[in-house]
Amino acid sequence: MDNFNFYSPTEFVFGKGRENECGRYVKKFGGTKVLIHFGGKSAEKSGLLGRVRASLDAENIPYCELGGVQPNPRDTLVYKGIELARAEKVDFILAVGGGSVIDSAKAIAVGVPYDGDFWDFYSGTQIKEALPVATVLTIAAAGSEGSPNSVITKEDGLIKRGTGSDLIRPRFSVMDPELTQTLPAYQTACGATDIMAHVFERYFTNTPEVEITDRLCEAVLCTMVKEVPRVIADPNNYEARANIMWAGTVAHNNIVGVGREQDWNSHGIEHELSALYDCAHGAGLAVIMPAWMEFVYKHNVMRFCQMATRVFGCAMDFENPEATAVAGIKAFRTFLHNIGMPINFAELGAKEEDIPLLVKKFGVGTGRTGGFVKLSAEDVTSIYKLAAKAAL
Ligand code: NZQ
Ligand code: ZN
Repeated sequence: MDNFNFYSPTEFVFGKGRENECGRYVKKFGGTKVLIHFGGKSAEKSGLLGRVRASLDAENIPYCELGGVQPNPRDTLVYKGIELARAEKVDFILAVGGGSVIDSAKAIAVGVPYDGDFWDFYSGTQIKEALPVATVLTIAAAGSEGSPNSVITKEDGLIKRGTGSDLIRPRFSVMDPELTQTLPAYQTACGATDIMAHVFERYFTNTPEVEITDRLCEAVLCTMVKEVPRVIADPNNYEARANIMWAGTVAHNNIVGVGREQDWNSHGIEHELSALYDCAHGAGLAVIMPAWMEFVYKHNVMRFCQMATRVFGCAMDFENPEATAVAGIKAFRTFLHNIGMPINFAELGAKEEDIPLLVKKFGVGTGRTGGFVKLSAEDVTSIYKLAAKAAL
């Protein structure tokens, strides 16, 4: 196991009705003037925004609002948010929504105290200061409620890039699984795919002797294999929603990834799809991740056998371990198909002729290659090609 620090100071406020306590937690973390940041219509329609406002009112905390964050959040709204937060002298940002809203809130938080362009932080500049951010999570997916990361798309050139700092880890995150019951099945499945991908990015490692994090990864994956079909069948299954919601957080706050080299190539390769086609990140991962697995499994066949047997219940073929590894990848793709995810370019709405452009934007050679297997531009091309034509 490698040396590591684990620092995850977010206070998670989990359970039914906990959004009514928002005001109290904003006060606890020192907020005196709040920007409530949200997405499209879902949080207003469900009555959630009304409850958040009432809970701030109950603590006499003034606030202003900025809605309109779209999935794959854009830099253009971030600039508006920075301007508004400065004009209103906001000292706390409350994101009410999913990963897109949270990531946009984090971008505003780093932009407000910075004299330059906030995009600098998405181009390699280190974050030194940020307003405090908190979240009311409405979808189990990106894990941004407990992560130090934010991913934003620059409209000019459709460049999707991330940044990370402990300074933008949420101070608190309200997680009421009931809030996720209004999600369409497709969005639920996209979120589930992202959660599983966050674990796989950590699971496929070259670091030996990491039994504890291997087993934690497998616990999250087995939970998803069991619970996702239950919520697809019954969107109001609170207990399954609750298990998935907490799985989403532990999948990405790095508790399952410490002390081991991680990969993250599938995420980089996917981000080019959601940047170019504006598809859901989880849907893009459903197309890319099994293709990446097919491309790299020979690098460590026994690790793929471990996934196949422990997560998907495949029988171990000791005579022919490769067959077990391949069966595990097939089981993963079939699972994704069964929960309603696309598995190839046509189902996603991507075009094979765009592959050279996708590879160029991915920018192999600029440091964006994974830890499990280093990929060349030709390798990334092959993965997109496998993804384009994938079938069950
Ligand atoms: O805008 P509204 O109306 O709220 O609708 C949203 C949106 O259309 C809807 N939705 C959310 N909660 C709902 C709901 N609809 C009904 N009921 C609810 N309770 O769902 C749609 C998707 O929302 P979004 O926030 O985009 O989803 P997600 O949480 O999957 O976030 C995706 C973004 O996060 C990034 C992705 O790249 C993508 O841009 N990621 C962020 C990470 C991080 N910060 O750590 C890591 C991830 O790997 C990921 O890259
Ligand atoms: Zn992700």
